[in-house]
Amino acid sequence: MSTGKILVGLDIGSSKIRTIVGTVEDKKNTINIIGVGLSPSNGIRKGMITDFDEAISNITAALDDAERMSGEPIHRVYVGVSGTHIETYDSRGVIAINGQNAEITEDDVDRVLEAAQAVSLPSNREILRVIPKSFSVDSQKNIKYPVGMTGIRLEVEAHIITGQVSAIKNIDKCLYQTGVDPQEIVPSILACAESTLDRRQKELGVVLIEIGASCTNMAVFEEGSVIYSAVIPVGGEHVTNDLAIGLRCSIETAEKVKIEYGTCLPKEISDREEIDLSQISKTDNHAVSKLQAAKIIEARYHEILLLVKDELLKIGRQGMLPAGGVLCGSAVKMPGCIDLSREALQLPVQLGFPRDIEGIVDRVDDPSFANLVGLLQFANRYGRTPSLLDFNFNQTFDSAMRWIKGILPN
Ligand SMILES: Nc1ncnc2c1ncn2[C@@H]1O[C@H](COP(=O)(O)OP(=O)(O)OP(=O)(O)O)[C@@H](O)[C@H]1O
Ligand SMILES: [Mg+2]
Repeated sequence: MSTGKILVGLDIGSSKIRTIVGTVEDKKNTINIIGVGLSPSNGIRKGMITDFDEAISNITAALDDAERMSGEPIHRVYVGVSGTHIETYDSRGVIAINGQNAEITEDDVDRVLEAAQAVSLPSNREILRVIPKSFSVDSQKNIKYPVGMTGIRLEVEAHIITGQVSAIKNIDKCLYQTGVDPQEIVPSILACAESTLDRRQKELGVVLIEIGASCTNMAVFEEGSVIYSAVIPVGGEHVTNDLAIGLRCSIETAEKVKIEYGTCLPKEISDREEIDLSQISKTDNHAVSKLQAAKIIEARYHEILLLVKDELLKIGRQGMLPAGGVLCGSAVKMPGCIDLSREALQLPVQLGFPRDIEGIVDRVDDPSFANLVGLLQFANRYGRTPSLLDFNFNQTFDSAMRWIKGILPN
């Protein structure tokens, strides 16, 4: 029997559904991982449910797997989502301070954050996160935590992450049908940040890049908080599709070629090396050039990285982030991905491994588990917070403030 609080994370990916179970002792940061579960994902495309029955059966399989390994029944889950239905934008909120002595209280922070999300949101979008980037009090800018300061006007610059209402509702519905209660829907990139980035990196300036199957998520941190995030609609499955076309083989064979022989570094492959597809496939039996495969892979990874670079250019941070780039998601395990990223982004780049874990570490010590482990750390750190709906209506102020303080530098 495990001791400590039980936390469960569930990542609803387009290629895999993953579950993780961990325990954490009161006031500790280290998560003791006690179970993981995995299932192929056949009913999800680009983060949205496309086949309800398949999705339910795949999620159930991943949950059962994790229950078996951990020996713990799963009732509540923190859910990681990504996909092209996630959109982000910046917003600003302003309020007048009218309390005694014009001292800013936690209530004022709550009100200004509400003001920031009172922008006209299309009816098909739901706010998943409101992240304060910085506050201003009267003419003083770049304040990280204004409570206790004196002023008459409080302003916040906020980064808002939204999801498509129907996509979120369908995930909720699907989870209820599998018999679990979704505690929080967390954008995958924020979960990855919890497990892979340290305070120094976030303070100095870092770009976190998660390459999944259907898309690439990115977030830029500076002075301790998220200043920008984006979803790029290209990921590992596009690499596989390119290989299937270029090598004239099935998608299944192309995926095997990619995982077993793939590299982003064609210059390390001789033009005489061949892959005999009959060794890995029942349907394809011709031989293909390993160099050609590497060139196809390199081209698509390079495109993804240039799209990331374009996003950095938009915010004036291209080549300007001292803590560089951190890569996570399964697709970053492609050999040569780090070298290619360094060259394309003109930044120091490293893989993002989940930190502060114990237990069955060997199962999750991998950039593809960054979001799952991060979900547990997110859950441990913020508790049941901070979807904006909760933030406004359901949440106790204590937990809301814990969340705000948590994402601001201490
Ligand atoms: N060892 C590996 N080397 C290269 N690519 C890999 C490796 N293992 C998995 N991939 C690729 O990573 C992608 C899956 O990544 P991940 O599991 O992070 O995606 P997902 O969460 O299911 O999808 P998404 O977040 O886009 O909905 C697939 O395209 C797969 O081919
Ligand atoms: Mg994913």
